[in-house]
Amino acid sequence: MSTKKGYTPALAFDFLTRFYDLTIKITMPENKFRTRLIDQLAPKSGETILEFGYGTAQNLIKIHRQNPSVKLSGLDIDPKVKALAVKNMAKQGFILPIDLYDGKTFPYPDQYFDKVFSSLVFHHLDRDTKALCLKEIYRILKPGGTLTIGDWGKAKSKHMRLAFYLVQIVDGFKTTADNLNGLLPSYMSSAGFKNVTETGFINTQLGSYCYYQAEK
Ligand SMILES: C[S@@+](CC[C@H](N)C(=O)[O-])C[C@H]1O[C@@H](n2cnc3c(N)ncnc32)[C@H](O)[C@@H]1O
Repeated sequence: MSTKKGYTPALAFDFLTRFYDLTIKITMPENKFRTRLIDQLAPKSGETILEFGYGTAQNLIKIHRQNPSVKLSGLDIDPKVKALAVKNMAKQGFILPIDLYDGKTFPYPDQYFDKVFSSLVFHHLDRDTKALCLKEIYRILKPGGTLTIGDWGKAKSKHMRLAFYLVQIVDGFKTTADNLNGLLPSYMSSAGFKNVTETGFINTQLGSYCYYQAEK
């Protein structure tokens, strides 16, 4: 589902964005899926790392609290979610650099980041936007840099397929179908990434949250 603004807010509708943190807490094994994502990212001191689609900054906050020497940044498209991210970071006593962009060109030079990661974002993007964003991620990564994605993927059981209908009803069938059909890895390869792998998954109340890893 895409609004007239050209993007889908965190919970599909603007007026729901302020309930995002609560919704994730209630519907997802939050600590488990974020911890595993960050373990896979393996952030190290001094590394430049971007979260694409930072939402309310929960991943950025978790990483910074674990290791304040990681050079973190975030990129999102929604000013409403940025305001919530700033508020959440301020509560923790720090503000990390987070940016907004126009949905086209990422505001960073070529080969700038050691790592890029993203969680629960690609299922919001239509096919062309998925391809465009992956190309931008590829461009801003250093050679040998890595991309870590966690998002809805192929349902790992009939029960997971049924559960995922709820996400599709809220977020739209069009943008979620490619995730469900397991197409994210092939999009990553088409953007130029090598060694693209699905590294694992967690079955949740809403569907199978899958982990992907790739290298530039
Ligand atoms: C479901 S939230 C995920 C937030 C966070 N990554 C997490 O794990 O909780 C999806 C986020 O993707 C952002 N988003 C949607 N379309 C985008 C786009 N084209 N470029 C960047 N971010 C986008 C939304 O604004 C929202 O913050």
